[in-house]
Order: sequence, then C-alpha cells, then structure tokens
Amino acid sequence: MAVALILVLIALGSVAFHLWSPWWWTPIASNWSYIDTTIVITFWITGAVFVAVVLFMAYCVYRFRHRQGQQAHYEPESKRLELWLTVITGVGVAAMLTPGLFVWHQFISVPEDATDIEILGQQWQWSFRLPGPDGKLGTTDARLISPDNPLGLSREDQSGQDDVIVEGGELRLPIGKPVKALLRSVDVIHNFYVPEIRAKMDLVPGQVSYIWFTPTRTGTFEILCAELCGLGHSQMRGTVVVQEQKDYQTWLQGQASRSFARLSPDAQ
Ligand code: CUA
Repeated sequence: MAVALILVLIALGSVAFHLWSPWWWTPIASNWSYIDTTIVITFWITGAVFVAVVLFMAYCVYRFRHRQGQQAHYEPESKRLELWLTVITGVGVAAMLTPGLFVWHQFISVPEDATDIEILGQQWQWSFRLPGPDGKLGTTDARLISPDNPLGLSREDQSGQDDVIVEGGELRLPIGKPVKALLRSVDVIHNFYVPEIRAKMDLVPGQVSYIWFTPTRTGTFEILCAELCGLGHSQMRGTVVVQEQKDYQTWLQGQASRSFARLSPDAQ
C-alpha cells in the first residue's frame, strides 16, 4: 500500500512541479516560436505517458499484492495487448516527430531578404563579421588567416574591404530583419547558442554551416558555446545586442575604423 501511494505521489508531484516550477524558459526573442511549440507538444505527450505508466504501476502494485492463497497466472504473450501498445506508441512517436519535420523545413529555408553575417569560433572566443555599407560579405579562405587577417578575408574581393570585423566583442543586429549567420571555426567544433533565439548550430572546422533567425525583441542576450571545445569552453561567451534599425545604422556608420581595409591594410 505504501509503495503504491508513493508512486501516485511521484506522478502527481511531477505534474505539480511542472505547473509551479521556478525554472522556465527565458522569454523568446526571435521568430522561432515553432521550436517552443514542438517542445510543448513533446512535453505533453511524454508527460502523459509518464503519468499513465507510473499510475498503472501503482495500480498493479496494489491490485496484485501478495495475499494468502492467491497464485499468479502466467501469460507471456498477448496479441491483442501487443497490437494496442504498438498502435499507441506509433501514434505518439509520429505526433512528436511530425511537427519537427515542418519546423526543420523552415529552419533550413532562409528568407530571400536575409542579411549575411559571419560568426567565427575559436578557442575560446567569438568573432563576427558584418557586411559594411555595400551590404555584401567578401570571400574568405582559411589559408589567408594570419595575425593581420584573423578571419582570412580575400584581399582581391572588393566587397570584403568594408566588412566590419568585431573580434571577441559583441554582435549587433537590427530588430525585425532576418539574418543568415555563416558559421566557421578555425580549430575545433563549437556551437553557437543564444537561449532567447531558441536555435543553435555547430561550427565545424573546414566547412561553413549556417543558421538563420529574425530578432524580434531589442535587448542584450548572451551567446554560449554549446559544444565542449576544451579547457576554456565554459568561458567561451559573447553578447548579441539587438537594436532598433536606426540605432543600428548609426552604430554601423561609426564602424569604418573596424573595416577590413582599415584593420589590415597590408594583409595578403
Ligand atoms: Cu567553443 Cu565550447
């Protein structure tokens, strides 16, 4: 009886903890509310299964407890029960996977008007590159990386001359404009993660991955590295500052001194 009661309390306590939990998501600051929706769907399905299984266990512990003169009936197979369990499990798993496929489709379909930016990871800091007044990022090559040219921009490419380079500082973005962040790493795998954006992506050495999102709220948000990348992994943090369009433009115009042409005039 006591065991059955404890099991019921575990089930009810888990639901109560969920409803009154002191830990909850940070308010969202991007277009990825779909991610939250899929998490909530998964949560309710797995939560319902958890409560059902624990309550069923409590029922069995009580109903089939030891009593004098009672003997267990051995029934190793039941076609009917197996069919039921298979169908219910199948429906539950499909209900959790299907929304994810829709969200994934959106996740990899970058809007036409997205601005390209670059995020570079290295042990253990974040660097950023924003297109200058021309709105275009210049091409890069890992072989061009040098102390003078830490991001490896090509000198031949004119569109790279006005690119704004921010090393180890904060990333500024205008609100309401989709950005496509091209992700590169110079050493090991890192992962760009901003909890308020609700999306994350690996930075893999030797390839350019990407992530897109539209900031929907102004403010300062923390960038975390979400891939164990060595001793300084936990220190690998950065900041995203989302600003109103005109504040952002004012800031960008003041960044000419951080343009590639000015930072490394002789880099080859
Ligand atoms: Cu970079 Cu962990």
